[in-house]
Amino acid sequence: MRSVFITGTDTEVGKTRCSAALLHWCAQQGWRSAGFKPVAAGLDADGVNEDVQMLRAAGSLPLTSAEVGPLQFQAACAPHIAAALEGQVIDMATLVQQAQALAERADVLVVEGVGGFCVPLGPDVDTADLAVALGYPVILVVGLRLGCISHALLTAEAIRARGLPLLGWIANTVDPQMAHLQANIDTLRVEFQRRHHAPCLGVVPRLADASPRAAAAYLDFVALHEIFSA
Ligand SMILES: Nc1ncnc2c1ncn2[C@@H]1O[C@H](COP(=O)(O)OP(=O)(O)O)[C@@H](O)[C@H]1O
Ligand SMILES: [Mg+2]
Repeated sequence: MRSVFITGTDTEVGKTRCSAALLHWCAQQGWRSAGFKPVAAGLDADGVNEDVQMLRAAGSLPLTSAEVGPLQFQAACAPHIAAALEGQVIDMATLVQQAQALAERADVLVVEGVGGFCVPLGPDVDTADLAVALGYPVILVVGLRLGCISHALLTAEAIRARGLPLLGWIANTVDPQMAHLQANIDTLRVEFQRRHHAPCLGVVPRLADASPRAAAAYLDFVALHEIFSA
């Protein structure tokens, strides 16, 4: 039905929470939803990356950790450095094949990018190249905190400059104490619409329970139906 690429204004802005919320919401619609984290850096005590675990648990298609996260590196640092520390090269063609294999088994595939949109994956490739190679339209998670408007609009320009459609954006509250939070959200709405015709797909507050189910309740169901049932 639909595959999407989730990017963010930065690392730690809520890409994983919002991806998991989307997977949960799609599963609630009765669709087979699958998460994919092509490259992950940093492993939990059980040897699995936290993002991979969360995406795997939120999707409805039963998948192994290796299917959701085929490249999980030990070191929690920039992915090309984490790969180099293990003497590995991130092979984009393989990642694209793995994503396509999942997309064939699922109704909805949600691919979570790595860090911000232009994070390098090797000497001559970055996350934006991976998004282009996958060819999936993009959803941008904006971490609401001071400075996010410019980060959001710069990222949107980079997405469009790579020729990828921007399906919409999700506001995720990183700093609930941010001054004039609502005015910032209003500005983002206007600017995304004016520059990119990109709708807001949800405004997620700072949650005590940041589970996929709790976050999914703040997504715009009408807008999501338009995107995923198209
Ligand atoms: N809306 C939210 N409410 C509460 N905690 C959140 C929210 N969004 C993200 N977090 C927390 O912030 C951290 C970073 O979120 P995450 O989704 O992992 O970001 P990213 O994938 O962009 O690195 C996590 O510990 C997560 O639980
Ligand atoms: Mg993440």
